[in-house]
This record gives sequence, C-alpha cells and structure tokens, in this order.
Amino acid sequence: MVVARALRPISTRLRASRYIVDDPENNVTPYIANLVGKNLHQTENHPLYIIRKRIESYFGSDFEIFDNEDPIVTTTQCFDDLLIPPDHPGRQKSDTYYVTKDSVLRTHTSAHQSQHLRAGHQKFLCTGDVYRRDEIDSSHFPAFHQMEGVKLLVDGSWTSRDEWLQSSDCEIVAKDLKTTLEGMVDHVFQQGSSLEKRWRDDYFPFTEPSFELDILWQGEWMEVLGCGVIHTGVLERCDVSQKRGWAFGLGLERLAMVLFGIPDIRLFWTQDPRFHSQFTSGDIVQFKPYSKYPPVYKDIAFWLPENNNFEENDFFELARELAGDLVEQIALIDKFKHPKTERTSCCYRVTYRSMDRSLTDVEINQIQDSLREKAALALHVQLR
Ligand code: PHE
Repeated sequence: MVVARALRPISTRLRASRYIVDDPENNVTPYIANLVGKNLHQTENHPLYIIRKRIESYFGSDFEIFDNEDPIVTTTQCFDDLLIPPDHPGRQKSDTYYVTKDSVLRTHTSAHQSQHLRAGHQKFLCTGDVYRRDEIDSSHFPAFHQMEGVKLLVDGSWTSRDEWLQSSDCEIVAKDLKTTLEGMVDHVFQQGSSLEKRWRDDYFPFTEPSFELDILWQGEWMEVLGCGVIHTGVLERCDVSQKRGWAFGLGLERLAMVLFGIPDIRLFWTQDPRFHSQFTSGDIVQFKPYSKYPPVYKDIAFWLPENNNFEENDFFELARELAGDLVEQIALIDKFKHPKTERTSCCYRVTYRSMDRSLTDVEINQIQDSLREKAALALHVQLR
C-alpha cells in the first residue's frame, strides 16, 4: 500500500529510524517499529492504563513509579545483569528484536531492575511495552506490556549463597512476596478472599527461589505472574549485596483481557472509537463486541407529509424489518424547512454492517431501494 505509506506522518517515519538501523544484526521490521512509542500504558482510559493504575493504587505511594523508560535497552540490561546465560533461548534472534549487536527492544521490564537498584531505589513499579518474536493467536502479539515490581526489605550479611537461601530472612522475603501479591490480585479482581489462587515453583535465572502465581478464573487456572526472591548475583552486580528483596513481573494484556472481557489482543492497538468509547469512565467494564467488517452508508432524504404526521420510530422500525440486524445505525444528518412551501425535509444516514461478513453493494442497494419504496408508501413521505 504505497499510498498509506506516503501519508504516514513524518514523526512516525523518524521514530521508526531509531529502531531500524543499518546493522547486520538488526531484525526490527517496519511493522514492529511502528508499534514502538504508542505508549498505551500511558494513555488515559485505555484498558491497559486502567489496570496499571489499579495495581499502582494497591502498592500506594511507598513505591516509586517508572513508566517512561526507553524500550531500547542494552543486552547487558536485558540479559547479563539478570544472569541470563549466553546460550539462553531468550537471547536468540529468533525470539528477540535486535537493534544492534548490543541492543534490543526489551523483552521484559526486568531489563530495568538493575539500573534502578543501582541508583538506590528500593521499592518501585516499572511499566512498559515489551517485544518478543512469538506465535500468532488471539492472546499473543509481538508487542505487549509488562509491569515489574521490586522491593528490598531486609539488610544483613551472609557468608554464602547457600547460607542465605536457608536463612529465615530468605523465608521472610518469600513470605512477604506471596502475601503482597495475593493481596494485589484480590485488589485487582475485587473478588475479596473468594478468589482462588495457587503458587507453583518456577525458574528464572534472576530470582531464587522463583514462583508463579495462578488464579482460578471462570473455572480455569490462569497464570498471572512470575516472581521470586532476587538472586544474590543480581544484587551483587548492583552493589547492594547487603540487601535482599523480591521482584515480580506481570503481563497487563492478559489481566485486561479477562477483566474487561476483551477477546483479542489486537484490540488493544485499535484506534476504533467503538473500542475506546467503551472505557471512558476509567472503570473496569465489560467489553461489548462490535463488528470487524466495513460499514456501508446510504442516505435517504424525503419531505415529511404536509400534515407533519411522521413518527421517526415508524421509520426506524421499517428499516429494522427490511434489514434486520444488518442495520447498525440511523442518524438524522440534515433537517430543514422550505421557506416557501413550509414543508420539512429530513435526510437520514443509514449505516449497514454485518457482525460476521462483508456486505455486497447489490444486497444493500436492494434493501435501500425497498426502504425508500416502503417509506413512501407506508409513511407518506415524498422521496427527494
Ligand atoms: N521477567 C519475567 C518474564 O518476563 C517475569 C519476572 C519478573 C520473573 C521478575 C521474576 C521476577 O517472564
């Protein structure tokens, strides 16, 4: 589509050039480059923003908030600082978007953990868009959003990693992590203590021990987040080896999809007002599906009967009878009174759209023709 490309705003093209660079390692496609910088998590009333705010409100003002970090991070930030080994599949070009040999589009918000720890932050939440080359289905998209949480809570000195892992302090950190996150999902789902949860052991190179939290939602176990006690090796690299704490990372799309009933992950990226107008209250409300198929617009204009004996609803009902649920909307787009004859003219725009297929011109013309014919006959209007 050459035309669409030519019309793309200059700012988008300039932005794209930050991600698509002339480097043999670069594998960022134009499609991906265009997603970067949309900042859905910063867009007020976007479902991802609403979920993010709800989680932040649970943690309160104790936690510093970061939401504006550059999605391009070094491989040191994304992998080395997190003890992710050189041969880890997550580093492969088949899984990760490389900008250059040494920089990537972050694959997780954990890429920012170390920089904030190094800068002395002890409790923080960090939200951002992350990028992964992955399968394609209704719950996977190459860009999505994560929130990272980090809290340091005990000080001390331990002679070895084993001594630490067996200490009661390590247990305290793990316990604090679990109660905090259980409270967080209760807060987000607002189901009180009736929300069923289960913990499972997991593995991440940068936490030890590591866990996964699942919740029972509409009869099925759903993974909500990965977390764990921050690995001593990570803290050492940040020069905070006398402190201990926990970290978690959760995907905002997955939570938003179940909470708002959003059936397809691509909807988060739509610019369709039929999507966005549903969330203007900033509350968690159930998404009402709308058609993916294009509309067909037809205008109909007529003079009202001389006696002005015309009920709009009769006209709407007539359209409903003829078009069934193919009619999506009828809007009055023009009304005026002729200065001499004093007759009133109305023009209605009929939007036809199917929930499950593209409409053909032929069928809509037929419907529209019979609407005109029947309106004239039954409602005594004079077609224009
Ligand atoms: N970064 C991990 C992921 O993307 C999640 C995680 C964050 C796990 C922090 C443990 C601690 O899957």
